This record gives sequence, structure tokens and C-alpha cells, in this order.
Amino acid sequence: MNTGILVTGGAGFIGSNFVLHWILAGKGRVVNVDALTYASNLGNLASIEGDPDHVFVHGNICDAELMARTLAEHRPRAIVHFAAESHVDRSIMGPDAFLKTNIDGTFTLLQAARAYVATLTEEEREAFRFVHVSTDEVYGTLGPGDPAFSETTPYAPNSPYAASKAASDFLGRAWFHTYKLPVLITNCSNNYGPYQFPEKLIPLIITHALTGKPLPIYGDGLQIRDWLFVTDHCKAIVEVLEKGVVGETYNIGGNNQRSNLEVVKTICSLLDELMPESPYTPHAQLITYVKDRPGHDRRYAIDATKIGRELGWKPEESFETGMRKTIQWYLSNAEWIESVTGAAYQEWVTKNYTDRKQKAEG
Ligand code: NAD
Ligand code: DAU
Repeated sequence: MNTGILVTGGAGFIGSNFVLHWILAGKGRVVNVDALTYASNLGNLASIEGDPDHVFVHGNICDAELMARTLAEHRPRAIVHFAAESHVDRSIMGPDAFLKTNIDGTFTLLQAARAYVATLTEEEREAFRFVHVSTDEVYGTLGPGDPAFSETTPYAPNSPYAASKAASDFLGRAWFHTYKLPVLITNCSNNYGPYQFPEKLIPLIITHALTGKPLPIYGDGLQIRDWLFVTDHCKAIVEVLEKGVVGETYNIGGNNQRSNLEVVKTICSLLDELMPESPYTPHAQLITYVKDRPGHDRRYAIDATKIGRELGWKPEESFETGMRKTIQWYLSNAEWIESVTGAAYQEWVTKNYTDRKQKAEG
């Protein structure tokens, strides 16, 4: 066994931020397995191109033979599992890929990890870790006065995405209890920051505002999410990997509950400030209400007391500093935006929003 780790989904939003953070912090080798779906972008990793500590493997986590071969060849000390289909709206339109990757893929990876761990020495087995990266959406939805989700909140997933992630969490839990695979599970709130594909709320609103397109708000816009800057999530995962107790679950959140309308208005005000010459200032004039997401969860909030108390993690960015950094990153990376908003992306925008607009008007 070497000192490196294996990451799945490291060409996606959080995975690529994690790989960059890991390499820049000099933490050793990363073998990065990614199927390069629509949500991925190898360009996110351009700054570490040629770095001998980053090994990219183009492959699917559902491919048992590939996963076994990759583990045997690189002999990592840990797996950090990010790979997933991650967008709720896409899961509503086409749940199949979510069940395939999030459930079958996680199952395949857990089995491959089990077989690999059996080849290790006792000392190596003791040190091995499998970090399963999951979401707060598995807990369902909160009312306005409900306490935030803790690690003991019962699972109540409401979307096909959340159900598939809940199933994968249960597989991880069972592989720990039954096979003693050293699994740790993290359940995190909404992330934002550099390299997020503009199908998710924050980058979609920024990229639409920059080109004067309508800023679509689902329903009344009063749904609440708990926002965390992506680098803070990556740092929390490192803490869980290095110091977490196997078999445990850790909730990760930013303690930044905001309604969607507040988030969109914050983006608009920051753009007004940073781009006073824009023909679209004031950007809030672009806000447009559209038909709601079916089964839309009303509120998420994370109680991150356990990871703070036991592992000493806390977020470093406030919502204000994180949002400013994020908008500045998108303003400085026009080429990146162009590279991810081609024909396939426009097709998605048409598919998701044309129907909503017609329904909102009708
Ligand atoms: P993303 O959609 O941006 O990236 C997912 C990556 O996984 C892509 O690079 C994609 O190519 C890869 N992938 C998909 N299917 C694959 C397969 N079958 N085999 C190999 N690679 C595959 O997702 P993200 O937002 O970076 O989320 C990463 C993880 O974190 C997911 O497990 C998600 O559930 C979880 N999470 C996300 C958030 C959030 O706010 N984005 C919050 C909490 C947890
Ligand atoms: O809570 C963690 C989850 O956060 C992750 O597990 C998911 O992978 C991630 O996609 C995210 O899920 P959400 O559904 O909360 O994120 P999204 O950015 O799609 O939407 C955020 C909120 O904004 C949600 O209430 C829906 C709303 N929304 C979204 C879009 C894309 C709009 O009002 N308009 C939009 O155009």
C-alpha cells in the first residue's frame, strides 16, 4: 500500500476542488477515476496538468473489473467517493442514471474496496479508509421552526436523487457493519464556489445575469438552503479522512441559511457593485418567477456540532466572503463559462425552463 488516495468523480465540481486542494496542500498522490459525464470538466484540473501526483483514469465506477484493476495497481490508503449524478431537476426528468451510478456504482465500489482490503496486511487494513460523500437531502425537508438536521435525524428522502443517495449511504453503513469495511459517511449542505456547472442555482444565476437572461426563481423563492463554500467542504472531508472514527457519520454545513430569493438578490447586488457599467444593472430587474420543482423540499439546515466538537472543523468563509470570491472567480473566468455552456448545455436550459415558463404563464 502506498501513501496515495483514490478519488472518484474528481472532474466534477466538488471532486475537482478537492483534488486541487489535496495537491496544492502537498498531501500526496491522487488517482482520480471519473467517467467524464456532462457534469465533469477536466479543464478544472488544468492548473495541475503534468503533476506526477495526479493520475487521471477515465472510467466508470459501475465497471467492477476496472475498479479492481485500478485499486490493485495503485494500492491507495483510502478512497474518497464523490462520483454521482447530482442534480435534482435531472433526477426528476430521468431517474435511471441516478439509480445506476449512485446505487449500483457505490455498490460496485464497496465490493471492489472489500476485495482490495482483503489483500492488505493487518497494519495496512487498520489504516485504510472509505469516505462516502453524501448530502443533507437524505433527511428530507424541514418546517420553519424545526431543529436543523443532526446525525440522528431519520432518513426521509423526497426526490429520486435524494432517494438514490440515501440508498448509497445505507450500503456504506451495511458494508461497515457486516464486512467491517472502514466506511465513514459525510452528509453536507449546499455547496457553492469556483468550477460549479451552471445548472445549479448560484452559477446559473451568475451566468444568466452576465448575459441579461431571466433569473428563474422556482415557486415563491422562499425555500431555504444552508450554503457552504466548497473549499470548506473539502477541508472537512480531509478532517474526516484523517481523524474521523470508522462507522461514524458527520454532518457538514455552513450555518448560512438563506432563502433562494435572498441568494439571488445578493448575487444581483454584488454584480451591480462589481460591474456598474453593465447594461443589465440593476440586475434584480432580471428576476423571473417560474413553475416550482415537483416535490420541492422547503428547507434544509445542518447541525454541524459533531464535526466541530470531535474533529475541530469549522467553516472559514462566511456567506458574504464566499459569495464575493465566487462571483469574482466567475467574472475572471469567462473562457471557463464559455467552455461549459455549449450546445448540450443550451439544450438542457431549453428543456428545463421553456416548459416551466409556459406553465407559469398558463
Ligand atoms: P457533479 O455533478 O459536479 O460531479 C460529479 C462527477 O462524478 C462528475 O465529474 C461526473 O463525471 C462523475 N461521475 C458521474 N457518474 C460517474 C460514474 N458512473 N463513474 C465515474 N464518475 C462518474 O457533483 P458535485 O456537486 O461535485 O457532487 C459531488 C458529490 O458530493 C456527490 O456525491 C453529491 O451527491 C455530493 N454532494 C454535493 C453537494 C452540492 O451542493 N453540490 C452537497 C452535498 C453533497
Ligand atoms: O443540499 C445538498 C444538495 O444541494 C446536493 O446534494 C445536490 O447535489 C445539489 O445539487 C444541491 O441540491 P439543490 O436542489 O438544493 O440545489 P440547486 O442548485 O439545484 O437548487 C437550489 C435551490 O434553488 C432549490 O431550492 C431549487 C432552487 N432553484 C434552482 C434552480 C436551478 C431555483 O429557484 N431556480 C433554478 O433555476
